[in-house]
Parts: sequence; structure tokens; C-alpha cells
Amino acid sequence: NKKAFIFDLDGVIVDTAKYHYLAWQKIANELNIDFTLEHNELLKGVSRVRSLDIILELGKVEASQEDKDKWLFQKNEDYLSYLVDMNESEILQGVFPVLKFLKEKGQPIALGSASKNARPILEKTGILSYFDAIVDGNDVTNAKPDPEVFLIAAKLLNINPEDAIVFEDSVAGVQAANIGKMTSIGIGSATVLHEAKYIFNNFTEIDTNFIEDLIKE
Ligand code: G6P
Ligand code: MG
Repeated sequence: NKKAFIFDLDGVIVDTAKYHYLAWQKIANELNIDFTLEHNELLKGVSRVRSLDIILELGKVEASQEDKDKWLFQKNEDYLSYLVDMNESEILQGVFPVLKFLKEKGQPIALGSASKNARPILEKTGILSYFDAIVDGNDVTNAKPDPEVFLIAAKLLNINPEDAIVFEDSVAGVQAANIGKMTSIGIGSATVLHEAKYIFNNFTEIDTNFIEDLIKE
């Protein structure tokens, strides 16, 4: 039985969610906008452009397109500065064994991320070759919770959405998987990700029996 195993990137495969947060916080600070970890949950899985809009809405700040473009550029430059020395040590614990197991089982694997920086991150961490398909922020027009990114990924893998399994750390991403009729697996806090079908704190809690069962289902 073949399933499509679709992985979000930031906060699922690599610990870049913290870098996104740090970079956005700098912009928010500059604008005197109060931006907490709780607010940050709203930004996970959300595109760069939409993230800035959410922050500006939080601070009730209205800005010109020129200013927005400047902040978007600044945010990305700052974010990229955290990635310069990135290597395989940034892969979150437990992820690599799962990828390896899926490969051994001949299961199709895809990336489904809102990020436009996805490819260089997969390259730097040395796991690009695990992915049979990569769908990222450069390929989609509708942001999560729209299921577009995952639907394209399943299609590229030639698997029906009902047979797709999505690993996500964001509320928007879990919703996208659910709306797409896929099996959602939340990685993170059960309180935050309660809409997911299964929830784990991290990949070290996912064992091969669980994956075997998903394949058989
Ligand atoms: C992911 C992250 C978001 C980020 C988005 C766009 O979904 O969870 O925090 O804003 O990708 O990433 P990018 O690298 O294109 O700015
Ligand atoms: Mg994520």
C-alpha cells in the first residue's frame, strides 16, 4: 500500500521556526508592536507577506507598500543570516530515522511548505534526496489553511488526498490537511494543535509501528 507522506518544513523537519520568530520580533520591535510567542502561533505556516500583515494588524499599523516591501526584505535578510552555517545538526530529533524508514519501505515522500527558502534548507541539511516531490512557497497561490500546497504534493506523488499523511507544526497547516481530507499529524503542543488527528510532541515519539499502521490503514 502506498501513501503520500507530506512533511511541512519549518518547525517539523528543521528548527527554523525559532529563526522566523526572532526575525519577525525585530521588525515588530522596530515598529513598537507587542509580539509574543502566542501571537507567533498565528504566523506559523503562513506566508511571509501575510505574516507581516498579521503583525501590522496586531499593532494597528497602516503602512505603504514601499515600507512593507522594505520590512519583508529586512525580515528575510535577517532570517537568512541565521541559516548561513546551517547543516544536518539542525534537523530535528527523530526526523531522520522516520525519513529513512519511509525510504526503506518505498513510500513516496514530499515537502509541503509555505517557505520560499525551502530548497536551500534541504540542501544545507543534506536531505534533499529524500524527497520525491517538493512543493513550496514558490509553487502555490493559496496559503494554508487552503490545502493547495498538500494537494499539489499528493498529485505529484500520484496518490489520492485520502491516502496522504501530513506532518505539521502549525494550526493553519493542520487545518489545510483536514480540509484536504488528509490524515493530519500535529507535531508540537496538543493544546495548540488539537484539531490534528494524531499529535506528538516531536518525532522521537513516533515509532516505526505507528508508521507501519499508517501505511496499512
Ligand atoms: C513557513 C513558516 C512561516 C514562514 C513561511 C514563509 O510556513 O512556518 O513562519 O513565514 O514558511 O517562509 P519564507 O522562508 O518564504 O519567508
Ligand atoms: Mg511549520
